[in-house]
Amino acid sequence: MARLIFHGHACVELIAEDGTRLLIDPFLSDNPLADVAADHFDRLDYLLLTHGHFDHVADSWEILQRTGATLIATFEIVSYAQERQGVASAHPMHIGGGYDFPFGRVKLTPALHGGQVAGEGAEGYTTFPAGLLIAIDDHRVYHAGDTALTTDMTLLRGQVDTALLPIGDNFTMGPEDAVRAIEMIEPSVVIPIHYDTFDVIRQDAGSFRELVGGRAEVVVLGAGDSYEL
Ligand code: NI
Ligand code: MN
Repeated sequence: MARLIFHGHACVELIAEDGTRLLIDPFLSDNPLADVAADHFDRLDYLLLTHGHFDHVADSWEILQRTGATLIATFEIVSYAQERQGVASAHPMHIGGGYDFPFGRVKLTPALHGGQVAGEGAEGYTTFPAGLLIAIDDHRVYHAGDTALTTDMTLLRGQVDTALLPIGDNFTMGPEDAVRAIEMIEPSVVIPIHYDTFDVIRQDAGSFRELVGGRAEVVVLGAGDSYEL
């Protein structure tokens, strides 16, 4: 079984049975609610990014430089990483495309959100934001990234075991729309993300669990909590 560790906001670490380590959307040093800093990651195999906003890419370049991990992201973010941040190992992809990595398959899914890439010299690298559908040790994880509720999510029905869904509202879908996403996707387990980090995205995870009711099991993780997939 793979293990999932939540590091606050939208940052999630996945550790496969064979020890392969993946990290998604690291926002650590500037997030007072994160449980670790960027230097916690001294060994990492892959770093995956959903989109280019600061609260998702913040610590990426430092972690990639130090660990030599392979970046998996959209073509534009990979171009920026290679041309402006000196990232050596990267695998560009794009929305709708999947690829079989040694640890399992990654597919980029549509997300409805902003496309700016944050960082020095990043002006020319606007991208489309994505979600991540990751198959690891026969478990299917969907990290929605930052997104509105979209009817595209119906295409994920039957393809997701554990869904990481934003519930913060304001910048992404809020709790009510996350429930509608669950009705479309029908995952077994839902882990709420992207809430409480800033004042405008404060939410009550317990109320969200009540809203979801019997539609799925809601697992609420605090920063540093881990969960067996
Ligand atoms: Ni964003
Ligand atoms: Mn965000």
